Amino acid sequence: MKLIFLGPPGAGKGTLSALAKERLGIPHISTGDLFRAAIKQGTPLGRQVQEIVTSGGLVPDELTTAIVREKLESPEAAAGFILDGFPRTVPQAEALETFCRIDHVVSFELGREELMNRLGGRMVCKNCGAVYHRFNRPPTVEGVCDLCGGQVVVRPDDEPAAVARRLDLYQEQTAPLIAFYDQRGLLRRLDAAPAPEEVLETLIRMLEHLEG
Ligand code: AP5
Ligand code: MG
Repeated sequence: MKLIFLGPPGAGKGTLSALAKERLGIPHISTGDLFRAAIKQGTPLGRQVQEIVTSGGLVPDELTTAIVREKLESPEAAAGFILDGFPRTVPQAEALETFCRIDHVVSFELGREELMNRLGGRMVCKNCGAVYHRFNRPPTVEGVCDLCGGQVVVRPDDEPAAVARRLDLYQEQTAPLIAFYDQRGLLRRLDAAPAPEEVLETLIRMLEHLEG
């Protein structure tokens, strides 16, 4: 199954991807995770995007699309995937249509106040990228990742000025994709407010119903 998870920063796309990829047996492809890994490793790509990602801006469409295309055309994505964080602009969505057919676009719906709560408390593993929340989902041992033992830290783009920029860019550039995919009959709305395990069950039931 070829899925897009669409939604504002902090809606839980990464958290749900980590749960849903196990249930659905398909890989999770997150452009944000790819950029953060490149930055951490200091690759040429990482050096190119570091300032943009840290300040909450958007990486240029052509560069992002080329990276995604390579991933989607690799054997590991042949049976399907969850695409998280891409497309994020209308030009990216138009480019994607030229090389891939998507089955469902899952739109994560959540109010602004809860988005701010989630972004304000988010912590991530510096090593493997696992996502936590200071209050909702803390690691068992403070500051230590449950999965790999790595250090759990605040993401640099969760600092208030970068969060404000990301939310503005979402409204301007990404929110128009809701209508874009609705017009194509691919949009599936998901209430992202309940706890992650509950959102997962709703998602799985919805996909079973659609595929049934
Ligand atoms: P990216 O990593 O995609 O960031 P984002 O879209 O801003 O989304 P987030 O990762 O912030 O939120 P999320 O929905 O995954 O929420 P999460 O699960 O973590 O992109 C980062 C940057 O990379 C961009 O700003 C840009 O610079 C660049 N980039 C990436 N893709 C690009 C593209 N296509 N084009 C151009 N540039 C691109 O959850 C948030 C918090 O809430 C966590 O603490 C979590 O524990 C908690 N939580 C999650 N679900 C629940 C729940 N159900 N109940 C309670 N708490 C919850
Ligand atoms: Mg994410």
